[in-house]
Amino acid sequence: MSQPTSDSVLLLQARFDQASAEEILRWGDREFGGDLTLACSFGAEDVVLLDIRSKLGLATPVFVLDTGRLHEETYDTMRRCQERYVIEFQVYAPDTARLQSLIRSKGPFSFYESFDNRKECCGIRKVEPLRRALDGRRAWVTGLRREQSVTREGLPKVELDEAHNGIFKMNPLADWAEDQVWNYIRANDVPYNALHDRGYPSIGCAPCTRAIQPGEHPRAGRWWWEQPEHKECGLHLRAIDLKERRAR
Ligand code: ADX
Ligand code: SF4
Repeated sequence: MSQPTSDSVLLLQARFDQASAEEILRWGDREFGGDLTLACSFGAEDVVLLDIRSKLGLATPVFVLDTGRLHEETYDTMRRCQERYVIEFQVYAPDTARLQSLIRSKGPFSFYESFDNRKECCGIRKVEPLRRALDGRRAWVTGLRREQSVTREGLPKVELDEAHNGIFKMNPLADWAEDQVWNYIRANDVPYNALHDRGYPSIGCAPCTRAIQPGEHPRAGRWWWEQPEHKECGLHLRAIDLKERRAR
């Protein structure tokens, strides 16, 4: 198939709205082959996707954005997934010169000081490496779910990613509930991040993630000092965010 356009993506959205994660991943593999890549942070959703990819026998490349500030437990999950699924993870690190300049001018904890500083750090450690990871790809897969945040309500299972040259973006677990994710992990004995058992439903970088209290929103521990509508690092800008940004 040629690259989906904004018209054809509407048809694909209707077609895949009720589709299973397996159907979507299999279709993506058929359509895009090695031009498709799966973004893995080793959170609960992503290990489910790794397991489905492996059960379907797909060779979809998998990339990891190693920000340099991930938890030990996250690297341990990487190790266990490497052993279990025999995947060569494509690891993307921050650009050395940009990181050196950030640390030299603002030190290693600038993200606590202001929203702009936090965005700057995410820009250097995540957003720019993601651009490199997607360079030359025609499509990517994420573990995003609608339930995760106000910023993710209404997330389609497939879309065009305006923030990345309009390539195709697939969110096969968009309509999964948290329980569904955990039922899958337990039923299939999938390796998962040990922090999930210590009050961390959502895991990012170590200095910007903490455990939540019972009853708190699952993403309350991410950038806990910020408002819920700010809790995105820029990996997943939607068309509407881009419009707002351009208007500013
Ligand atoms: S974030 O934008 O708040 O950091 P979140 O942690 O919810 O994102 O993860 C959503 C999806 O983004 C994951 O399922 C995964 O597909 C992708 N993702 C997030 N962090 C990384 C990472 N470090 N490496 C690769 N993919 C990631
Ligand atoms: Fe930097 Fe925190 Fe963003 Fe990680 S989550 S890139 S440490 S600001």
